[in-house]
Amino acid sequence: MEEKIVLPNHIGIIMDGNGRWATKRGLSRSEGHRAGANTLKKLCIFLNQQGLKYLSLYAFSTENFKREAKEVEYLMNLFIKMFKEEFASLHKENVRVVFSGKKEPLRNDVLEAMNELMQKTKDNTGCCLNICLNYGGQYEIADMTKKLCEEYKKDKITLDDITPEYIQENLYQNLPPLDLVIRTGGEQRLSNFMLYQASYAEFFFTDTYFPDLDEKELTRIINDFNKRNRRFGGN
Ligand code: IPE
Ligand code: IPE
Ligand code: MG
Repeated sequence: MEEKIVLPNHIGIIMDGNGRWATKRGLSRSEGHRAGANTLKKLCIFLNQQGLKYLSLYAFSTENFKREAKEVEYLMNLFIKMFKEEFASLHKENVRVVFSGKKEPLRNDVLEAMNELMQKTKDNTGCCLNICLNYGGQYEIADMTKKLCEEYKKDKITLDDITPEYIQENLYQNLPPLDLVIRTGGEQRLSNFMLYQASYAEFFFTDTYFPDLDEKELTRIINDFNKRNRRFGGN
């Protein structure tokens, strides 16, 4: 039997470079997104089979609504198709899907497909796949702050209840901190991805465009991660 790789608890992937992958091949950006979606499914299944507990994927940022309407529409339709049809294989593999992000201005049919997938997979006990869709780290912190202010106003909490742990519990999803964040596509920035959860994450940047990220490169990155010395402020 093939040996399993030693995995961190929570991996985040900023899936960037779909557009450039397509342009390089003389294809439309949409075709890049289609190829990226296939990669995403393949890598989720691989990591789940390896025994990963938490995987967060940056699928669409709040800022991505600034793109041309045609591209946004393609992506929204692609999300629906993925959630309704292609993710059946993830359900079979026991993956539990949750979402992080704002509802507005997502279309109703997109929200419905998200909700359906979440409900269908809610009792699964494999990897928790957190899909960040219409997600922005700054909005997540603003939304959490509003929630805590409401609780404070209603005397449900006192100021002393506001601890880092309580903040984590009140983000879009109560997930453990990120251990490893991988960004494909050559840029070295967070672009508003999981600001709070990434406090002590290790970062890996690769020039590979997301559709070309494969199990071999992912395994190499994880093996490199295992060699890093994480000190968490100690010595
Ligand atoms: C990432 O690929 C996917 C989304 C942001 C939805 P891009 O679409 O950003 O691809 P590039 O960066 O333009 O190549
Ligand atoms: C980050 O990629 C968002 C996602 C991967 C969904 P972008 O392509 O939107 O980031 P910037 O614009 O290069 O910072
Ligand atoms: Mg990009």
